[in-house]
Amino acid sequence: MTTYLESERLTLRPFAATEADLLIELDSDPAVMRYLTGGAPTPPEEVRDLAVPSILAGYERWDHDLGLFAAHEKDGGMFVGWFCLRPLRSGPREEAELGYRLHQAAWGRGYATEVSQALLAKGFTELGMRMVWAETMIVNLPSRNVMEKLGMTLAESIPTPDDMMKVEGSEHGGVRYEITKEQWERRQA
Ligand SMILES: CC(C)(COP(=O)(O)OP(=O)(O)OC[C@H]1O[C@@H](n2cnc3c(N)ncnc32)[C@H](O)[C@@H]1OP(=O)(O)O)[C@@H](O)C(=O)NCCC(=O)NCCS
Repeated sequence: MTTYLESERLTLRPFAATEADLLIELDSDPAVMRYLTGGAPTPPEEVRDLAVPSILAGYERWDHDLGLFAAHEKDGGMFVGWFCLRPLRSGPREEAELGYRLHQAAWGRGYATEVSQALLAKGFTELGMRMVWAETMIVNLPSRNVMEKLGMTLAESIPTPDDMMKVEGSEHGGVRYEITKEQWERRQA
């Protein structure tokens, strides 16, 4: 199995077509889905028929350089969730969105920060990224903390998407954070 990226404690690799169950289980925890759907699980058929084919198509579209990848612990191999670094379908390839979703058992151990730091380094040094952004709800403090620890800066407030209006805290809206290649390089110096 190809390794996309290694951080200190985790390995990222592409999802296989046969691994829908990993995503179905991850999305079945109401705590994981709290700020995404209000706690509702993603229907298994939606994962199998839409999410997995779209993830696999992304690998082809971006020549296996960008996309959404499975994260496993190096020690023992446990699946802990996913990370993504991917442009908008119709957007410039030099600007990508960072995202993450982890099993509750893996929270609070610095995993999201560790892997995201490694993804930014890969993006800016190997993949020709000019800017990386991330979006979340104002009330999703763990996610915002990761963005801030990465040195991303608050770029703008964004409206809550229509399909998230029933999610707790949606009335406060969302936030978009960004980091440019220059900002990232200054932090490394
Ligand atoms: C967001 C998420 C990926 C963070 O993963 P993680 O590995 O626990 O993140 P880290 O440990 O690297 O950092 C989280 C930070 O938020 C802090 N934090 C956690 N819960 C918090 C809370 N309720 N309020 C304030 N800060 C909080 C942690 O203390 C940590 O900061 P620290 O290192 O300064 O102590 C994880 O919570 C998750 O998967 N949530 C569900 C899915 C989700 O919401 N994804 C993001 C959608 S935009």
